[in-house]
Amino acid sequence: MRNLNEETITQAVLARNHDMKDSRLKEIMTSLVQHLHAFARETRLTEEEWAAGIQFLTEVGQTCTPTRQEFILLSDTLGLSTLVTAQNHRKPPGCTEATVFGPFYVDDAPDYALGDDVGNGMAGEPCFVSGQVRSITGEIVPGAKLEVWQADAEGFYDVQRDGGPAQGRGRLLADREGRFHFKSIVAESYPIPHDGPVGRMLDAMGRHPWRPAHLHFMVSAPGYETLVTHVFREGCQYLDSDAVFGVRSSLIADWVAHPAGRTPDGASSDTPFYTLDFDFILNPVGKETIA
Ligand code: BEZ
Ligand code: FE
Repeated sequence: MRNLNEETITQAVLARNHDMKDSRLKEIMTSLVQHLHAFARETRLTEEEWAAGIQFLTEVGQTCTPTRQEFILLSDTLGLSTLVTAQNHRKPPGCTEATVFGPFYVDDAPDYALGDDVGNGMAGEPCFVSGQVRSITGEIVPGAKLEVWQADAEGFYDVQRDGGPAQGRGRLLADREGRFHFKSIVAESYPIPHDGPVGRMLDAMGRHPWRPAHLHFMVSAPGYETLVTHVFREGCQYLDSDAVFGVRSSLIADWVAHPAGRTPDGASSDTPFYTLDFDFILNPVGKETIA
């Protein structure tokens, strides 16, 4: 193949991919090449713009570390993560909806007993969280595993701070009735990391980097689709402009403010505190609905 030009280059690349053995890889690469070329044609991309894009992606890669995943931030802020989550978690109405995973989960968070303080010394107003895990078919889900993670009152996850203990994250098992309760701090809105190329991109696009206040959950139990979701705080100013497009109305809950006094664990708080009660409704494996 020689003398390729703007009319013939796309077909030439696709023809070169003809012998690809992995059929799914072939489908993905064919579509990717077609869409990339269509994008360059539609926008009449200049050489300077192409070079700026290469430079941007280079910086995104260079910003990644074991605790900073700039490519996930890029996917999240372009809505790609929400699209992929939505099309892979179609569920019957009434199930708790899934939302973006985000970059701050760690898979070896400490184990806690029901009632423990998952905040583990994290600064912030106390919050007592409770709920029940049930199936969409009505049964309770005994012993479901709940993994929770959240930012501190200044908007940072423990992994964003150098060293130190795990704070604001942990694993708990629901009881025989599927019920769970733990103590933590009340979630506050926070900006996604915006001191890198994705932050500069948002700035150039006239967008803010803020996420509405939320608590992350991963809920799993044998026989059920694992649920990755958040519970958002009613009244938060960023609910309709989440930087990563993760808000779903069904995931917004009242985080009820209480004056200082007796707390749900039977103790007493000198300061005001919050309670949050939220049930998770799981989908049995194989019950996905086709949209
Ligand atoms: C988070 O909620 O932890 C998060 C999600 C997407 C991007 C950055 C942070
Ligand atoms: Fe978060």
